[in-house]
Amino acid sequence: MHTCSSRRRRTTRNDRARLLFVLLCAVFFLTGSGLAQIYLPPSPPEQPSDYGKVIIGSNSSTTGPRPVVFDHWLHRAKFTCRLCHVDIGFAMQANGTGITATTNRQGFHCGACHDGKRLIDKKTVFASCSDDTNSKDCNRCHSVGKKDVRKYTYAAFTKNLPKGLYGVDWRVAEGKGKIKPVDFLEGISIKKASIQTRPDFSIKAALPWVHPIIFSHERHAVWNGCELCHPEIFPTAPKETVRDSMFLNVDGHYCGACHGRVAFPLNNCNQCHPNGPAWARGR
Ligand code: HEC
Ligand code: HEC
Ligand code: HEC
Ligand code: HEC
Ligand code: HEC
Ligand code: HEC
Repeated sequence: MHTCSSRRRRTTRNDRARLLFVLLCAVFFLTGSGLAQIYLPPSPPEQPSDYGKVIIGSNSSTTGPRPVVFDHWLHRAKFTCRLCHVDIGFAMQANGTGITATTNRQGFHCGACHDGKRLIDKKTVFASCSDDTNSKDCNRCHSVGKKDVRKYTYAAFTKNLPKGLYGVDWRVAEGKGKIKPVDFLEGISIKKASIQTRPDFSIKAALPWVHPIIFSHERHAVWNGCELCHPEIFPTAPKETVRDSMFLNVDGHYCGACHGRVAFPLNNCNQCHPNGPAWARGR
């Protein structure tokens, strides 16, 4: 188990949240309480541009092309999580999909879009793996250790997007229509009846002094549909049968399957615990 002292650098904005946790840890140490099942969420990378960056390299050799960088900030501005993680079938685990040059060429995985033919935002998406090893486009993906091979930078791309406690506030960006993530890909997705959302509900915490968390099905379905959470992350059991906890969140389960990796980080306590003390709100 992590202890308070093992934590290091963090951004100043999360200072107050950290203080809360330090205090909590202190209480748990003093009382030796069995409630010491929460520990500090790791701080997100210092640069928001590195948040949700996935290095895909399990099939790259030392002689072939370099490992691949996949950025969520670029792709999630254009597509929903559901489109990629359900329709295209990417695992929510770095290197968990088994992407190869062959699957890409066959039109799966990255090749579902990067086939040199598909039009998105009225532009042809550059092709992924082929025999043309002289193509400049190879390095746009196989970019680990290379400089100035890419067209998009985080700073320029997110310049006009609203920022939050940490990097882009995607919730606001989508809410204000600054981005319109696409949820359907011709030839890949299946047309379906529009989904019925469920009402918002509150999740009671295990500790009596922690206010219940309000969970919005409607807001989540915008990005995740239903299938990204049910049944894998949350069984569709009557609510409160799943025993989530902050400890499990921090360990990458339940809310932590997305929050802390791609959706806003767990350090932003107040976004899930809006009724917490003012000094924990990061403002
Ligand atoms: C849209 C992104 C993208 C582009 C562009 C791209 N690749 Fe790939 N390529 C990948 C991914 C992802 C993998 C899997 C990497 C891994 O797991 O190591 C891969 C793997 C490979 C492999 C590893 C061997 C194998 O069978 O998987 C080779 C060789 C390869 N690509 C060649 C190329 C060449 C040559 C080009 C340029 C013509 C290219 N790629 C362009 C995404 C891309
Ligand atoms: C354009 C496609 C695409 C979109 C859109 C997308 N993802 Fe991903 N995601 C990927 C790929 C590719 C991987 C890496 C899979 C692999 O390496 O096998 C990944 C990995 C992940 C991981 C694991 C990261 C890690 O470091 O282990 C999480 C969590 C995740 N995605 C969540 C999300 C969420 C939440 C959204 C929506 C806000 C989203 N993704 C949108 C393609 C996408
Ligand atoms: C759902 C469609 C979709 C999928 C799937 C997808 N991409 Fe993309 N990707 C795009 C679009 C659209 C762009 C913007 C292309 C442009 O404007 O030239 C893009 C841009 C990129 C760029 C930026 C290149 C640059 O020069 O800055 C990289 C890198 C990239 N994708 C890698 C990947 C990798 C690796 C995968 C697979 C693991 C992948 N993408 C899967 C749609 C997709
Ligand atoms: C971000 C994850 C997430 C998404 C996306 C999501 N759910 Fe849920 N769902 C939950 C959680 C969390 C619970 C409560 C589980 C518990 O407390 O045991 C739940 C509970 C449920 C339940 C049982 C409780 C109830 O309200 O009757 C149903 C049914 C359900 N969801 C349907 C849906 C449908 C339909 C969609 C798509 C519109 C959807 N869910 C999308 C996370 C999600
Ligand atoms: C499948 C991925 C996923 C899971 C699991 C998930 N979320 Fe989210 N959540 C998102 C994404 C994506 C957003 C959009 C904002 C962002 O990316 O920062 C979001 C937004 C939110 C918001 C802001 C809502 C708004 O107003 O738009 C809250 C609050 C939140 N999540 C709480 C939770 C809680 C509590 C849980 C666990 C019960 C949970 N989330 C599980 C992906 C997820
Ligand atoms: C993505 C949403 C999310 C974020 C961000 C978040 N929490 Fe939680 N937290 C939850 C949920 C959901 C529960 C309720 C778990 C349950 O069912 O017991 C919870 C429960 C708790 C509990 C009660 C103990 C427990 O495990 O139930 C404490 C204490 C807590 N959170 C503190 C924090 C602090 C401090 C932060 C910021 C560092 C934080 N949380 C950030 C979702 C979140």
